[in-house]
Amino acid sequence: MATINTNFLKLKAGYLFPEIARRVKAYSDAHPGAAPRIIRCGIGDVTEALPQAVVEAMHEGVDEMACRNTFKGYGPEQGYEFLRQAIVDHQFADLGIAADEVFVSDGSKCDTGNILDIFGKGNVIAITDPVYPVYVDTNVMAGNTGEADANGAYGGLLYLPCTAANGFVAEVPHQRADLIYLCFPNNPTGAVATRAQLEAWVAYARANDSIILFDAAYEAFVRDPAVPRSIFEIEGARECAIEFRSFSKNGGFTGVRCAYVVIPKSLTGSDGQGGRVSLHQLWSRRHSTKFNGASYPVQKAAAAVFSPEGKAQVAALVEHYMGNAKLLREAVAAVGLPVFGGVNAPYVWVGCPAGLSSWDMFDKMLQEAQVVITPGSGFGSAGEGYFRISAFNSRANVEEVCRRLTALVSA
Ligand code: MLT
Repeated sequence: MATINTNFLKLKAGYLFPEIARRVKAYSDAHPGAAPRIIRCGIGDVTEALPQAVVEAMHEGVDEMACRNTFKGYGPEQGYEFLRQAIVDHQFADLGIAADEVFVSDGSKCDTGNILDIFGKGNVIAITDPVYPVYVDTNVMAGNTGEADANGAYGGLLYLPCTAANGFVAEVPHQRADLIYLCFPNNPTGAVATRAQLEAWVAYARANDSIILFDAAYEAFVRDPAVPRSIFEIEGARECAIEFRSFSKNGGFTGVRCAYVVIPKSLTGSDGQGGRVSLHQLWSRRHSTKFNGASYPVQKAAAAVFSPEGKAQVAALVEHYMGNAKLLREAVAAVGLPVFGGVNAPYVWVGCPAGLSSWDMFDKMLQEAQVVITPGSGFGSAGEGYFRISAFNSRANVEEVCRRLTALVSA
């Protein structure tokens, strides 16, 4: 008899975004006349075409694969040297990261989930609330939690509430945590952490022998030069942090798939018997066993993000999406709803009109304005009473969303 991983049975309903898609489909099927009006600002999926430099590099990669002399079979599991070096030179200059501390992959969602393979059972896991649901669900799947309570909070996780009162940046807890998930710029709230706040986290992690899992997938959207883009800007982070980065949101790779993890060689974990083990070595072993590398044309395309043309084109894309975020923030503020984020992040986090829950607001926006947003409670119980608007869209759509939101809330 083949038994199953019963941890999956603890998972609440569906993963948030498929659940939203299901509700949108149900509405569209029931209202075919309204369906063409629907504007999707739910999932944070990019909408604009790939940068031209990326497209050209990908074409070149494909052409090389089409010729016997330049064809490539399996590549290095950890990524081609040309990409790992470009990442270090352009993203981590002066931060003491070496090319062989970078592991190229096919996405940060996979990386943040897969990283649990190298950690043991019984770790105290700290998760912010609200949070990107992948961190929670992958811990449930891995058996690191108990059952969910009526609010959807899982036993065994240490939840760190992020509220308007703390600027949606979790404070270091009084208890010890072994693994801590931090995401800045934050998904879903759009909050950023100051240098002093990250220093406090690094000091906490070092004092408690914990590891920070730092998701920096949205670093390209940081505009304030005082805001750190990498945890490795903080002294001591090499001894306590792993960083996740992606080409999805800056280079528009959500449909192309390329990301990377930075694991310093100086980072170790306990073997539970007094010994220390290199996490870099464990991840390298894991990666080589379970992954055969991102495809060559994709890695060529990713490296083009760092060419002079690529940089300028990515900057224009970021500028476009952040222009959208500004419009959304202004429209929300003008109708008197509390608004957060959207300044150093492509997500605008909004307080629901009085008396409406997050899912009430989702339904109202869908049914009365044909706009898809993400209900804050889908990111955790502390997200109740909020909703997230993604700035990833065309300018025309965002202007239309602003008009419809204004009409809906002012009515
Ligand atoms: C989101 O909308 O939160 C993100 O697009 C999800 C993701 O990047 O996987």
